[in-house]
Amino acid sequence: MVDRWVQDHQKDAWRKQAKASGYRARSAFKLKQIQERHKIIDSQDSVLDVGCHPGGWAQVAVELVGENGKVVGVDLQSCVPVDGANLIVGDITEPFTQQAVLDAIDTEVIDVVVSDISPHITGKWDIDQAVSLMLVADVFDFALPILKYGGHFVTKLFQGVGVEELIELVKPHFQVVKRFSPMASRNSSSEVYLICKFHTPKRGPDWQIRPAFEDALEHRQGGPEPDEDVEPAKSTFQVRKKKTD
Ligand SMILES: C[S@@+](CC[C@H](N)C(=O)[O-])C[C@H]1O[C@@H](n2cnc3c(N)ncnc32)[C@H](O)[C@@H]1O
Repeated sequence: MVDRWVQDHQKDAWRKQAKASGYRARSAFKLKQIQERHKIIDSQDSVLDVGCHPGGWAQVAVELVGENGKVVGVDLQSCVPVDGANLIVGDITEPFTQQAVLDAIDTEVIDVVVSDISPHITGKWDIDQAVSLMLVADVFDFALPILKYGGHFVTKLFQGVGVEELIELVKPHFQVVKRFSPMASRNSSSEVYLICKFHTPKRGPDWQIRPAFEDALEHRQGGPEPDEDVEPAKSTFQVRKKKTD
């Protein structure tokens, strides 16, 4: 109960700070803190912001890339325009939206992908968490082919079953992959951000994350069940008293 009160109070504090600073959402501070620690966006970069509504990350990205950079965002919900960003409405897993994003980017490759995507929350934690990881895998599969060599990728993850498998599948695509929990999201949920730096494109037919992730989950579920009928083996390990003569 007290924990809940503290969490709500902290969320409120970030919300007030966001309002005072002209940001649309407290989530803006998460990207700012990710940037402070990990330096993912440079001036003049092109940035794809996945799950951009209401536009807090897009506002921060526009500040960071400056006048000569480019920010393209996409979300299921339409946003009030953000000066300097091109925000598209659509489902990032749909080919039609993907084409609209590629058209808006209008270059062969981009420098950075930031994704704060989260699915519609049903309240059933294990379902929401599983859907969110699949969505993250889809975003990787869409965006990796257009992320430049050496580019960076940040994505939100909800901790739980499958996270380790997903991270293992992402690792071969980047030189550095690490988890980071910004102050603005601490205590508020089980979300964490995966910071993937220095894209090293993985070639070959098995480069995609989603099919391999589904295989990994199936393998995990089909793994051997512990046999409850088998008695645990007795340990022969003993602590011997040291001789003192
Ligand atoms: C936490 S919000 C993002 C907040 C945003 N980073 C900001 O600072 O304003 C997550 C967003 O992901 C979007 N989303 C979920 N599924 C999506 C999908 N398939 N395609 C595009 N956006 C999606 C939701 O509509 C929601 O607005």
